[in-house]
Amino acid sequence: MAAELVNVNEFQELARQALPKMYYDFYSGGAEDQHTLRENVEAFHRIIIRPRILVDVRRIDMSTTILGYHTSAPIMIAPTAMHKLAHPEGEVATARAAAACNTIMALSFTSTCTVEEVASSCNAIRFFQLYVYKRRDISALMVQRAEKNGFKAIILTVDTPRLGRREADIKNKMIVPQLKNLEGLLLAEVVSEKGSNLEAFASQTQDASLCWKDIAWLKSITNLPILIKGVLTREDAIKSLEVGVAGIVVSNHGARQLDYVPASITALEEVVLAVQGKIPILFDGGVRRGTDIFKALALGAQAILIGRPIIYGLAAKGEYGVRRVIEMLKDELELTMALSGCCTLKDISRSHVRTEHERR
Ligand code: FNR
Repeated sequence: MAAELVNVNEFQELARQALPKMYYDFYSGGAEDQHTLRENVEAFHRIIIRPRILVDVRRIDMSTTILGYHTSAPIMIAPTAMHKLAHPEGEVATARAAAACNTIMALSFTSTCTVEEVASSCNAIRFFQLYVYKRRDISALMVQRAEKNGFKAIILTVDTPRLGRREADIKNKMIVPQLKNLEGLLLAEVVSEKGSNLEAFASQTQDASLCWKDIAWLKSITNLPILIKGVLTREDAIKSLEVGVAGIVVSNHGARQLDYVPASITALEEVVLAVQGKIPILFDGGVRRGTDIFKALALGAQAILIGRPIIYGLAAKGEYGVRRVIEMLKDELELTMALSGCCTLKDISRSHVRTEHERR
């Protein structure tokens, strides 16, 4: 009998064994030297938890609301591309796991299941991640389809005017399947001599002219709340407030775009201080433990999105694997809260962590 899995990191090795090298490299890799990829995880290790003792912690409540939607814990599924490369059921399996765990799934614009398939598969609360394409009609149509199919928010990803340089994908000549969602744009047909066909696809499709004034355009085509994903600085946090979005996702795209940007957790507090509680701040990047989630909450995030571990769970064990990943993180967060003297999320305060820059 296979040994029991005890933490989400153990799914990574299972995923490596289950996947063709090209796909495993695509999911696990980061940009260029992968400095930020390592930092996203390691920066968490340098944050220390300051627990409180002698608190009655018999009952721990991790539940919260995210943009008004109730969830069992401040944990969401990050938008990640092409789940059918990991498992034949693709995003439908991921959404079902989100529903089973009573949490929110953000569906990637480059999903391998359609928004309609995902919507009809289960009652998970769903947000829709948007890329703005040069063909704005395609992006606008996707927003309409998401809205019509009961998605509750748009997460506009803004850190990808061009695709980051992921060298494993270039070496592997990463091939990607047809994306049914994006009518008329078949990824597999785009091939580049210079790099992966994904890179060629992105340079043909992504609108590199997207800028702050375009938030008004997006607002004009949807009534859904809009979150901006990819904020790493106080300057951009302030601009996000100025253009009137409903929330921010502090993210460096899982270190797949620009290398040598800060680890996400290092950028979080700067954004939190600039926003001053005016809009919710979500967070992703390098979260592998309940203690990581606790640290991000203490530094001011309202909820935490999980990227790669979800894909590894999906690749290793399908819907069940995704569920296990979420459950493991929830269990770890609950234990962390109990051992830190925090019975509810509101009890987790800035004074529960010490960053590397703070004096002992
Ligand atoms: C991503 N991410 C991403 N983000 C996005 O807005 N749209 C997308 O289609 C994708 N696709 C994607 C594919 C893969 C394979 C990865 C690993 C990541 C970024 C994702 O939403 C999130 O920001 C990171 O994955 C968070 O970091 P961790 O949890 O993977 O460390």
